Amino acid sequence: MSDNDVMNSPFERALSKVTVDASPAQGQARPEATAEVPPPVQQRSSAPVGGDRRRRASDMDPTDLSRFAPSDADFLRFEERFGIGPDQRSTFDSAFRIVRTQVLQAIKDRGGQVIGITSPSSRNGKTVSSIHLARACARRAEQTVVLADLNLQRPLLAGYLDAREFRSGIGFFRGEGRSEDYLTHVEDSNLLLFLSDRGTSQSAELLASDRLKQGLEAFRSVAPETVVICNLPPILGSDDVMTIMPQLDGVVMVVAAGETGFKEAEEAAKMIPREKMLCALLNKSRYASQASFED
Ligand SMILES: Nc1ncnc2c1ncn2[C@@H]1O[C@H](COP(=O)(O)OP(=O)(O)OP(=O)(O)O)[C@@H](O)[C@H]1O
Ligand SMILES: [Mg+2]
Repeated sequence: MSDNDVMNSPFERALSKVTVDASPAQGQARPEATAEVPPPVQQRSSAPVGGDRRRRASDMDPTDLSRFAPSDADFLRFEERFGIGPDQRSTFDSAFRIVRTQVLQAIKDRGGQVIGITSPSSRNGKTVSSIHLARACARRAEQTVVLADLNLQRPLLAGYLDAREFRSGIGFFRGEGRSEDYLTHVEDSNLLLFLSDRGTSQSAELLASDRLKQGLEAFRSVAPETVVICNLPPILGSDDVMTIMPQLDGVVMVVAAGETGFKEAEEAAKMIPREKMLCALLNKSRYASQASFED
C-alpha cells in the first residue's frame, strides 16, 4: 500500500474530520485503567420502576422528562472512580464539547438521530466515551438524549454509573412491555438511560429483532429534539455492529492511543459506510492540546 493509499483510507478520512484527544492533559492524573465496576444489583421486578411518581407518557407534556422513572445513576462517583477530579473535569468537558458539536452537527446534516459508538476492539473506551458524549449533548438546553446500552455482550454502563433501579433492557428485547417503560431520567438533566443488567450470547439475534426497531423508533420520539446514543460492542470480532448498522444514522469510532493498531483501525473503518462515519475519537492519548479544546 502506498503512502497515498494510506492517506486516502477511510480511517484517515475519518480522522481528518475530527480527532479529539479525550484524555487529561499530560501531567494530570490519569483515569485508573484498572477501574472495574462490580455488576449492579438489579431490580428484577417486571413492574415499571418509579411507582406512583410516574405517569404514563401520553398524559404529559412531551418535553417534560420527569414522566420517566427517576434514575439513581451516580455521575459524581463515576467521575471519581475514573480519576476525573476537579482539575480534569474542565479538560474532559472541553474535549467532549468539541466532539458533541461535531457529532450533533453531522447527525443533523444527515437528518438522523441515532448514533452508534463502537471501536475496533474491546477496552478502547466506548462506554466511558458514550457517557461523556451523552452528558455533553444533554447540556444543550433544547437537546434530549437517550443513552442506550446496546452492548448486549457486555452491558457495563449500569455498573459504571452505579445504577441499580431500572428495568433491564434484556427484558424489553424478550418481549416484555414498552421500551419507554425501560427508560430512566437523570434528575435535572435532559438525559434518559436505557440499561441492561447482564450479557447475552444472543446479542446479534436481539439486535436484529423488530423489538430493536420498535425501541429505537420510540426513543427517537421521546421529545422534539432527541438524539439516541448507542453504546455498542467492538465492530471487529462479532457481527453485532453490522447487524444494527442499518438502524444507525451515524457512527463514532473510538480508537485507543497505544492500543489500537493502524491496520485494525483501518479494517474497522472500512466496515462503516462512508456516509455514516461521523468522527473518530482518539482516546487514552497522553497528550492534550488546550488550544484544541475550544468549542
Ligand atoms: N481516556 C482514558 N484514559 C485512561 N483509561 C481509560 C480512558 N478511557 C477508558 N479508560 C479505561 O479503559 C478501560 C476500558 O474502558 P471502557 O469500558 O469504556 O471500554 P470499552 O471499549 O467500552 O470496553 P468493552 O469493549 O469491554 O465494552 C476501563 O478500565 C477505563 O477505565
Ligand atoms: Mg463497553
